[in-house]
Amino acid sequence: MNILCKSLLSMESLLILSSMSLAVHEPLNMDRMCTDPNFLQRISIGQMLPSHKIQSFIAPGLMVCARECVYQTNCLSFNFDTESGQCELTRAEAGLSLPLVSKPGFVYATKSDWITAIAANCQHVKCPPNHRCVPELNGTHCVLNDCGIPPTIKFAADVDYTETIVGAKLGYNCSRPGMKPQNKTMTCTPYGSWDVEPCRKISSCADVQRCNVTDDREYWLYPEAFGYANKVKIYCHGMNTLNPKEYVSLPSENLVVYPSAVVKYSYCGVDYSANVPKAGKVHFEKVRVHPKNMTIDGEDNQFANLRWGKFQAYGRAVDCASYISCRKYFGFFRIDTTGTGLVINRTVSWVLHGNRAGQTYFNRSSDHVITAKCGGYCGGCFPDSQLSFELEAETSTVVQSASDTMCSDIF
Ligand SMILES: *[C@@H]1O[C@H](CO)[C@@H](O)[C@H](O)[C@H]1NC(C)=O
Ligand SMILES: *[C@@H]1O[C@H](CO)[C@@H](O)[C@H](O)[C@H]1NC(C)=O
Ligand SMILES: *[C@@H]1O[C@H](CO)[C@@H](O)[C@H](O)[C@H]1NC(C)=O
Ligand SMILES: *[C@@H]1O[C@H](CO)[C@@H](O)[C@H](O)[C@H]1NC(C)=O
Ligand SMILES: *[C@@H]1O[C@H](CO)[C@@H](O)[C@H](O)[C@H]1NC(C)=O
Ligand SMILES: *[C@@H]1O[C@H](CO)[C@@H](O)[C@H](O)[C@H]1NC(C)=O
Ligand SMILES: *[C@@H]1O[C@H](CO)[C@@H](O)[C@H](O)[C@H]1NC(C)=O
Repeated sequence: MNILCKSLLSMESLLILSSMSLAVHEPLNMDRMCTDPNFLQRISIGQMLPSHKIQSFIAPGLMVCARECVYQTNCLSFNFDTESGQCELTRAEAGLSLPLVSKPGFVYATKSDWITAIAANCQHVKCPPNHRCVPELNGTHCVLNDCGIPPTIKFAADVDYTETIVGAKLGYNCSRPGMKPQNKTMTCTPYGSWDVEPCRKISSCADVQRCNVTDDREYWLYPEAFGYANKVKIYCHGMNTLNPKEYVSLPSENLVVYPSAVVKYSYCGVDYSANVPKAGKVHFEKVRVHPKNMTIDGEDNQFANLRWGKFQAYGRAVDCASYISCRKYFGFFRIDTTGTGLVINRTVSWVLHGNRAGQTYFNRSSDHVITAKCGGYCGGCFPDSQLSFELEAETSTVVQSASDTMCSDIF
């Protein structure tokens, strides 16, 4: 027992203490109370402030707990557990709207009562908010040590926190309906700011699957490509497999024709016919997309309706029937995104590619419809980069009927 403890246990202070302890069910642990008895008149015994915590740590005594509160700008009061030595610094003072709660073995005190007694060099120093005064032999300095009250996270359950000081890690669940179920943490950085991992809306069919939904159908997804902010109607295919895939359903006609070159051009004076093994005609009911970047996989034939011949990639007009001397082309594609809420990336253009390639027309007169008639020997019109979707200016034309995934009772 040190000197402070001995003075505390003098007759006089024991009297003070016992008169204050009347409301307390258990006696206070004297070893932990080593302090100047003059202060005991201002502390609330058997009570504590349960919220607004900044930091919790084990302190060797009440004095150390009080001193730490004095040093920290944000600290206004503290709880001290005389049993365990748990010191809890808080950023508020108890009052009418913030009542103390009864807790045997605890004491509560406000900072103002302690400043002159223990502030030492820090007494006349005013550190900025979120800082802590560090006393030294040659003076003092202020260090950033607190991030303040954690922010409310959009779409997350309320964050339950016990500390807000630098290095504190707070866990939270992204658990609201339509959210990707994830456990996240936010960390108080050395710069005094919270580093937050935002909650994400459900953005892929794999996310939907994680909500224990395994039907192949239309869902509203919030693709990463659109900042998780805009909903897009996506058909999820293979939901009972390990690798579900995303498709955009196309309510209007989308097709590609690679003619088989039985073509007579009387005005050219040429009868041309040939065996064209690659020819074919395909109607696309859906196209495959990657929700990460909304690029289209034009080679995916899962929902390609083959009318005859071979499968053709989406968005190309090619033939093998066009002599340079007779500029007539028969390869054809039609892209029509009407009713999807999407348009083809406006910066993509089509270029001639292949042998003797040329075009009869390329028509992009509306946002949603692109048609072209091209050909070569063999050749035609190809997009100059991978096709991708953008949001249309107004999403009002989306053909409705998709499901929002409710992932609320996940975990
Ligand atoms: C006190 O001395 C330490 C090094 O011993 C130095 O880092 C600090 O800046 C000094 N503080 C003041 C206020 O001079
Ligand atoms: C997250 O959810 C789990 C399961 O319901 C729960 O045990 C945990 O406390 C939650 N975490 C947070 C930070 O709310
Ligand atoms: C979140 O954490 C809880 C408990 O720590 C765990 O049971 C649950 O599976 C986790 N959820 C996710 C989506 O990782
Ligand atoms: C788009 O994402 C897919 C799958 O995530 C990837 O394979 C592809 O390379 C990406 N495309 C571009 C242009 O970034
Ligand atoms: C181009 O599209 C517009 C509008 O859809 C249409 O009126 C026009 O006939 C088309 N031109 C060709 C050559 O197809
Ligand atoms: C559109 O395509 C261009 C290049 O083809 C690409 O740089 C751009 O990121 C695409 N935009 C969107 C929104 O995908
Ligand atoms: C999903 O369903 C399986 C089987 O019924 C069950 O074991 C699992 O806990 C469920 N997972 C979630 C996240 O609800």
